[in-house]
Amino acid sequence: MKLVLASKNKKKLVEMNDILSHLGIEVCSEAEAGVDVEVEETGTTFEENSLLKAKAVMEASGLPAIADDSGLCVDALGGAPGVYSARYGGEGLDDVQRYQLLLENMKGQMPRTAKFVSVITCCFPNGDVISARGECPGTVAFAPMGEGGFGYDPVFFVPGLKKTFAQLTAEEKNAISHRGKALEAFQVKLEAYLKK
Ligand code: IMP
Repeated sequence: MKLVLASKNKKKLVEMNDILSHLGIEVCSEAEAGVDVEVEETGTTFEENSLLKAKAVMEASGLPAIADDSGLCVDALGGAPGVYSARYGGEGLDDVQRYQLLLENMKGQMPRTAKFVSVITCCFPNGDVISARGECPGTVAFAPMGEGGFGYDPVFFVPGLKKTFAQLTAEEKNAISHRGKALEAFQVKLEAYLKK
């Protein structure tokens, strides 16, 4: 089964395929499906934005489409950057500038607890929708550590492993990450749906 990923993020595409390929699911990019969809993420929840993205790409491509809407929610910042994680500090910043801004905004703040959230939504051309949520608790590190991953990975510290997400291998991150957990819950729902 082929699903089109409603995202331009190549790292998300790799993570999705790593996690779903053993189910015989191939996740392809919008470019491979011949579409280029700009979705305005106007929702205020991960669920709303995930659905907006998957629906738009399903409608443009005519194929089942899967979207991940994810972000980092920091307790001391009232849940920010949350659904605005990709745009934190404005559109002009890159990943490094965004996590530096986060570290700046966390100076003197307690507690440093945070969680990554991912909501996976799959929209089918017949109107059916499957959705699943995953969360991963952690803390905001005091300084960036590690080279792997993307986004806020260098500053997201997992106390149980004493490492940031950026210091984990892809397998280690997928085993505990918000996206890994959401995809695990999604797989169970998808398998039940495909058996119907
Ligand atoms: P989205 O593409 O609108 O879902 O934006 C998600 C944003 O949240 C990304 O641009 C990253 O900044 C951040 N994010 C989501 N998942 C991760 C992750 O696994 N590691 C690091 N940052 C992430």
